[in-house]
This record gives sequence, structure tokens and C-alpha cells, in this order.
Amino acid sequence: MFLEDYRLEGEHLPIYTYPDPVLAKVAKPVEQFDQKLEKLVRDMLFTMYHAPGIGLAAPQVGESIRLFVIDVDFEREEVTRPDGSEGMEFSNLRPMVFINPKFTKKEGEAIGKEGCLSVPDVYEEITRAERIVVEYQDLKGQKRTMEADELLAICLQHENDHLDGVVLIDRLSPLKKKFFKTKLLKDKKRL
Ligand code: CO
Repeated sequence: MFLEDYRLEGEHLPIYTYPDPVLAKVAKPVEQFDQKLEKLVRDMLFTMYHAPGIGLAAPQVGESIRLFVIDVDFEREEVTRPDGSEGMEFSNLRPMVFINPKFTKKEGEAIGKEGCLSVPDVYEEITRAERIVVEYQDLKGQKRTMEADELLAICLQHENDHLDGVVLIDRLSPLKKKFFKTKLLKDKKRL
């Protein structure tokens, strides 16, 4: 479901990075569909578009609940305004919100390079299902179903992993995972 009447407004939320414990937790179902939830969703979209990223899950901003936002279509461009100031301009926004998602069908295999805002500088090939059907709730709590393939299917599976406490490097071979874990911990110490 696309968020209707969406305007790019909100606050920048801090993005938690590996190995923050919030990223390893199994997130709790969303039960209250209220204004607080709507604000969180708008701030998450704002944060995702500016990062930029094509998906952001609630645990990545420190909220351990089953919710993520996705937009695999938008464009972002650096612009110089008439007054000489520089900024970012966004177009073709198609924000999607998934609450309490559950995959009811997974078919085929697709391999794609994935990155993650919570796992900086790691881009690795991951095997996912090629086509999926996802059941979820929208911002009003309404039950919905969506079929997805290609990039959207991969992105849905990546974001859903975050709700189960799984990050990108958990999907790699034990040897690769160890390599990236050591590297990420070193990088973090240096910051
Ligand atoms: Co991610």
C-alpha cells in the first residue's frame, strides 16, 4: 500500500549500527495504530530518503516493533537553488509501509547484491526467494496482501529479516561473517 498524500516532512532519526543489541532482537507485533505510530512512520521515511536507502526497519531506529518502510523507485538529485544554496531534490516518491508482515508464499531463487544502512560498507550477494506474497497491515490496521518480485521482493525479505533480529552478515557463510564482524568492530572503534 502506498502512503497517500505523502509529503517529505519529518525528523532525522538516529540509525543504529551493528552490533547494537536492538538489531539482534526479535521485534514485537504492532498493536496500537495511533498518531504516535504515524509519526514514527513519517520520520522513518524521512530518514530513509535522506540516508539514502530503499528500505528501513523500525529496529534500525531503535524501535523493536514489526514495521518497515520501503521505496524502491525514488530518485534523488543534488540541486543548486536560485539563491545559490545547495540541497537535495527528491522525485517519484512511492512510499510503502508494512506492519506485522508475514510471507505466505515464497517461490524461486534470486541472487542480488545487498547493502544495509546498519551494516556500513558491506555489499554482498545474498540468495533470496524470487517471488513472494506478503500479508501485512497498513497504517490504519487494515489487512492487506501484496505479491512482489525482483528488487521489491528482495527488499521485503531484507527488511523482514530485521524484524527477526537478522542482519545482512548473518546470511553469509560463517567464514565471511567472521571476517566482516571483525572489520565492522574495528571500524566502530576507530569512529
Ligand atoms: Co538493512
